[in-house]
Amino acid sequence: MGLPDDIKQAADEILNHPEVTIISHIDADGIASESILSMALGRENIRVNSVFVRQLEPLTIHQVPKDSSFKVFSDFGAGQQNLFLESGFRENDLYIIDHHISQPCDVPYRQLNCLTHGVTKMSTAGLAYLLAREIEPANRDLAHLGVVGNVGDMMAREHRGLTGPAREIVADGVSSGTISVREKDLNCYGTSTRPLHICLSYNDDPFIPGISNDAQGALKFLKRMNIDKGQGGWEHTIWEEMPHEDRKKIMSALVEQTIVNGESPDRLFCESYLFPCEPSRTPLRNAQEFATVLNACGRWAKPHTGGLICRGDRGAAYREAEKMLMNHRSVIRELLQYILDTGVRERPYLQHIHVGDRYPDTIIGIGAGMALSKLNRQKPILIMCQLPEDPTLTKASMRTTERVVNRGIDLQSIMATAAEETGGAGGGHKIAAGAYIPRDSEERFIIRVNELLGEQYAPTITVHR
Ligand code: C5P
Ligand code: C5P
Repeated sequence: MGLPDDIKQAADEILNHPEVTIISHIDADGIASESILSMALGRENIRVNSVFVRQLEPLTIHQVPKDSSFKVFSDFGAGQQNLFLESGFRENDLYIIDHHISQPCDVPYRQLNCLTHGVTKMSTAGLAYLLAREIEPANRDLAHLGVVGNVGDMMAREHRGLTGPAREIVADGVSSGTISVREKDLNCYGTSTRPLHICLSYNDDPFIPGISNDAQGALKFLKRMNIDKGQGGWEHTIWEEMPHEDRKKIMSALVEQTIVNGESPDRLFCESYLFPCEPSRTPLRNAQEFATVLNACGRWAKPHTGGLICRGDRGAAYREAEKMLMNHRSVIRELLQYILDTGVRERPYLQHIHVGDRYPDTIIGIGAGMALSKLNRQKPILIMCQLPEDPTLTKASMRTTERVVNRGIDLQSIMATAAEETGGAGGGHKIAAGAYIPRDSEERFIIRVNELLGEQYAPTITVHR
């Protein structure tokens, strides 16, 4: 059976139930998935109740209502099947829609999982969209949310664009007019909302001396271009709004600068997904920034607000989300600075830091991912924090790069193994993973993570310390 057969089977099963509870993850992908599923099922007159959970684990499983509704777990569940078993769920009680590695389990819980079909660049919102389209072709109006989930979960990062079945979703959005695609666009965050020189200065992959980490330098670079900016000046210029010819000129100059610096210009380019129906200069204009809005809501305990944004609320919910976005960005900036100022501790194969109770567990992974681009990218980073609601527990997040993953490093298996051995549980992806562990086993956990990394590195590979 291929992915389309699994999608059909999941649609047939879920449509059999008059009442469904969707239990979804609080990140951008989880929120986009929940919105797609709940709109698609609601349109079929199924009663839907949604519950968002920070992560499925023994501490949070009680948040799943114990009622007779059919349970659909989205963006987690594949890696927590033994927890379902221990919590008394039977095979027919639930359906899993997920893109995480599946855990062996004695009960064959049913799941729609792209990994079963070797599709690695697809998020749960992508799967939820394909399911919604299977239920009713008119659900193509939800394609942009499938793209937001995919982009939010970094599915476009390695190839600088969506690939495989995730591309079909883009094509659906283009044909229904909700998505416009820009090929070979500038690979910078904030191209729809930030002044261009700020975008350029925040980008350090590839690093361009005089532009990266240097807003004034970036401004000077732009002013040297032979482009008439009229009244507004470069300080107010947004990349998305610039004429094609001007964008081309700037791209060529950036390519030149990158080559002069001895770096490949490939990563300067990416494919962008824009949402022309959204108001200009708002973060809802493109998939990357839309995903940050959802993350800001979810990771700061307002996932339902993110859900309202997905459903089209541009009033009260959007105003609330804007505030959360500002807070999200400023706390992450602060966390990034904290990591850089404090410095990481080094092990042979690992760099790690503990942030105590200064930052919430929901964002430490994001901060670590950002810090990694300014630290030694060859070494995976492990960040830990205390859980305020349970001082006996520690949250751990790890991040690495595609290059390190391509050398054989798999953070998912390392976190799952080290956590299990030290009395916790974890999982995720090869490139990004998380775990909850007992606080008193932190030191053992770090030692094990470092050892497991060492085992995964092929003996011939030298780690640059
Ligand atoms: O479940 P999960 O897929 O929800 O995790 C998503 C988070 O993991 C993203 O917000 C991102 O921080 C990180 N991630 C990443 N690169 C990937 C996949 C996930 O950095 N390829
Ligand atoms: O929480 P964090 O952003 O570090 O999560 C990174 C990835 O690890 C996500 O895909 C998340 O779903 C996964 N994760 C997990 N089990 C945990 C914590 C995180 O599978 N206990």
